[in-house]
Amino acid sequence: MEAKFRINSFEEYEEQYKLSTERPEDFWGQIASNYQWQKPWDKTLEWEFDSPDVKWFLNAKLNITENCLDRHLEKRGNKLALIWEPNDPKERFVRMTYRELHEEVCRTANVLKKHGVGKGDRVAIYMPMIPELTIAVLACARIGAVHSVVFAGFSAHALADRINDSSCKMVITADGIYRGAKEIPCKGVVDEALKSCTSVETVLVTERTRWNVQMKEGRDYWMHQELLDVDRFCPAEPMDSEDMLFILYTSGSTGKPKGVVHTCGGYMVYAGYSFANVFQYDESDVYWCTADIGWITGHSYIVYGPLLNGATTLMFEGVPTYPDAGRFWQVCDKHGVNQFYTAPTAIRALMAKGEDHVLSYGLYSLKVLGTVGEPINEEAWEWYHIHVGKEKCPIVDTWWQTETGGIMISGLGGHSPMRPSHAGYPLPGIQPVLLDQEGKEIDGNDQEGYLAMRFPWPSMLRTTYGDHERCKNTYFSHYNGYYFTGDGARRDDKGMYRIIGRVDDVINVSGHRFGTAEIENAINSNDHIVSESAVVGYPHDIKGQGIYAYVITKEPPTNPDKLRAEIVETVVEEIGKIAKPDKIQFVSGLPKTRSGKIMRRILRKIAEGDTSNLGDTSTLLDPDVVDEIKAGAL
Ligand code: PRX
Repeated sequence: MEAKFRINSFEEYEEQYKLSTERPEDFWGQIASNYQWQKPWDKTLEWEFDSPDVKWFLNAKLNITENCLDRHLEKRGNKLALIWEPNDPKERFVRMTYRELHEEVCRTANVLKKHGVGKGDRVAIYMPMIPELTIAVLACARIGAVHSVVFAGFSAHALADRINDSSCKMVITADGIYRGAKEIPCKGVVDEALKSCTSVETVLVTERTRWNVQMKEGRDYWMHQELLDVDRFCPAEPMDSEDMLFILYTSGSTGKPKGVVHTCGGYMVYAGYSFANVFQYDESDVYWCTADIGWITGHSYIVYGPLLNGATTLMFEGVPTYPDAGRFWQVCDKHGVNQFYTAPTAIRALMAKGEDHVLSYGLYSLKVLGTVGEPINEEAWEWYHIHVGKEKCPIVDTWWQTETGGIMISGLGGHSPMRPSHAGYPLPGIQPVLLDQEGKEIDGNDQEGYLAMRFPWPSMLRTTYGDHERCKNTYFSHYNGYYFTGDGARRDDKGMYRIIGRVDDVINVSGHRFGTAEIENAINSNDHIVSESAVVGYPHDIKGQGIYAYVITKEPPTNPDKLRAEIVETVVEEIGKIAKPDKIQFVSGLPKTRSGKIMRRILRKIAEGDTSNLGDTSTLLDPDVVDEIKAGAL
């Protein structure tokens, strides 16, 4: 049997899945041959999960942008590659063909080169959702520079940390950001961040809002001026399969966010393959993923996955509720969107605004709906299915992670059985297992355990930037011989997976990951007021999880509201608005074991409002503190 790039039925999925697990190297070798390589690989795979050391398509040479752009020019040169819908529906939208995008990427790549950026250099990208962001990402890839996109909602402090961690040589940014009714500075944040970064030599600024921004002589340049005198073609840098393509920072349960590293060959193969199959994209379709390119979803399923398939990908600058809660649906109708991919939190937020907004639009073009980032509750799933999909569109609930690079467990639009709140079956090549506490595989269906992977897949992370030990400790040391996801999951009686949620100290707020330690550090940095804090997640109707902070102050708070505002402000400065605590409770102590470990289980229960069964508290250093916390719960 042959590996097929595009699966067209559930039977075919089953056959392909079997092939992919019985002969993984043959399978991925055949899938990879659907791409354009400058030099073929000597060996498909070498791996061990102890170090870990994983290599795919060894010694092959390629450039992902040749696969995203050049290779389509002959057949699809005049096809739309990108549709850009601005924040304000009255502003003109932008359409770019593959030929135009190719030229823009080449020109921008030449600007990067002119400023001394080359293969292996790191470039931070901090931009609003405008076409120039996609172009900047691809321009880096064109010349072999490693992009590190930082979501433009992060603060100057968080941006500086990320720039410093990978010693970026350049920052690409814009003057300002329009987001809903808000006008948000962008270049100003970069200026602030760069006060504590020494590695950055050049800042390229794209014009978006035409605000008056400070330009530092010899460091800052306007992109539109730099583009005036560059060549319209830029040769694609030959990259080794295992050369770094990008770094993307994500939160873990401990300390600072880590730079997840993805490499060229494997990432390309899997991003393109998973896109084609999950969304069942057909040649004339218009595909829209509402994520921001600052997250992995945007990397793999706004930029790389769709372009690798010669698809038309829509990019949206705004938010779901501006100018009103019908905006998503208005955009779907306006551009004839066929595949629509969003987050459960957005669905819940729109559901809360009532059906009228969605019922005002026809939505006839929709064929496949997708969700990502967090578990989708049944109510939101049904609403999406009935009101958006008109009960005719399959929903793909896609489970994956920054570290996995691509979708791991999901239905294949229209071919797989669906069950609300269940991601379903693994994609071909993906071998999930459920482990028990001891790290033993739990066989059979109707079982629950820790979700892990027992075999590598092409787009898995290779390391965490500058700290391989951390990669090993975070993902490969919990259970010997497995990649550990940090999630708990259940396999139902038919073998479909349901993701239960994180089993570590990571909170998922509106599909965005934060480590509790990261938020605690931010709160504690207010050290003239705060002596200690503990953060946990709690169920939140719209966001999935909200952030609940227990804070011990140095002095008893006389004006708690003012103090809360100060603490929130610090978190906004340290991380960004997206990590604002929803609730802050002042306490005089925290439940700790005799060895000083905070019993988060108890704090979680109290935050959930479930104080009936707190378990055994007798081993606590100070059991009375629990009653105090219970009494003051918000
Ligand atoms: O807990 C899982 C949850 O999001 C985590 C990964 O977060 P991040 O790296 O930011 O990537 C998000 C987008 C790929 C996972 O460990 N998660 C992601 N997708 C789902 C999900 N939980 C349930 N169902 C999903 N479909």
